[in-house]
Amino acid sequence: MKKVRKAVFPAAGLGTRFLPATKVNPKEMLPIVDKPLIQYAVEEAAEAGITDMIFIIGRTKRAIADHYDKAYELEVELEQRGKLRVLAEVRKITPPGMNCIFIRQAEALGLGHAVLCAQPAVGDEPFAVILADDLIDGQPGAIKQMCEQFDYYQSSLVGVETVSPEETGSYGIVATETMTGRISRVTRIVEKPKPADAPSNLAVVGRYILTPRIFHHLKRIERGAGGELQLTDGIARLLAEQQVLAYAFEGQRFDCGTKLGYMQAQVEFALKHEEIADAFNAYLKTRFCASCKD
Ligand code: G1P
Repeated sequence: MKKVRKAVFPAAGLGTRFLPATKVNPKEMLPIVDKPLIQYAVEEAAEAGITDMIFIIGRTKRAIADHYDKAYELEVELEQRGKLRVLAEVRKITPPGMNCIFIRQAEALGLGHAVLCAQPAVGDEPFAVILADDLIDGQPGAIKQMCEQFDYYQSSLVGVETVSPEETGSYGIVATETMTGRISRVTRIVEKPKPADAPSNLAVVGRYILTPRIFHHLKRIERGAGGELQLTDGIARLLAEQQVLAYAFEGQRFDCGTKLGYMQAQVEFALKHEEIADAFNAYLKTRFCASCKD
């Protein structure tokens, strides 16, 4: 039986929706309260027993590599000042046994190309793909749920969620045949179809478990939606020879690739944050009542 031990984090996009904040800093380093998006994604993978974290980075993404590097000066400084709680937080970023691998994607040619760049580090084994801007609050995390399904089915899986029919143009959309509970069999997958052409309103969110055969197909795809090499098109080819399952994960997803989704995540995570939950809740109440009077 094969186990998922590696995760790929494509992070070479331009982050244009968050300019100017992303002029120098990668969007994956935008924080939700006090933790960058990429760290939520890596923690989700680690929770699933994944040990090898493969980051596909582009220009302006050095901050991600620095975030996963040991910060000796900072640690010494925190220790000397007796700030032991934050020191523990900083050390937790890279727990023992976690391997971080950085691969440069010189050109932002699309998600399919980004995943293909990971092939030398992934080799011939199943792997997860996690898009950090889809933040999923789940217990356990979505990738752990999907790894459990993989352990059983041993086939590729895409995380899915129902979206409103007008939104199909923002997602990979699947047609499926129901199998059992949260699992269905993908019969078709299309990247960003117009509502009129969409086979359903079941959208792929940024969680995938793929067999290494995907690389064979990613080498053969042509530019698709938006002129990019699309992972969806690679999966469409994979489907012709291997079973691909859709998994309706349990948990709440925030689309942190948009300003609205990002702010919704900020609010929800702040309301649960051990340091500020009470004060933030109180602030929202006064703010909400104040605006009611307006
Ligand atoms: C990517 C994928 C798309 C998927 C989406 C999930 O699109 O290409 O199939 O549904 O992530 O967030 P992007 O959001 O990068 O345009």
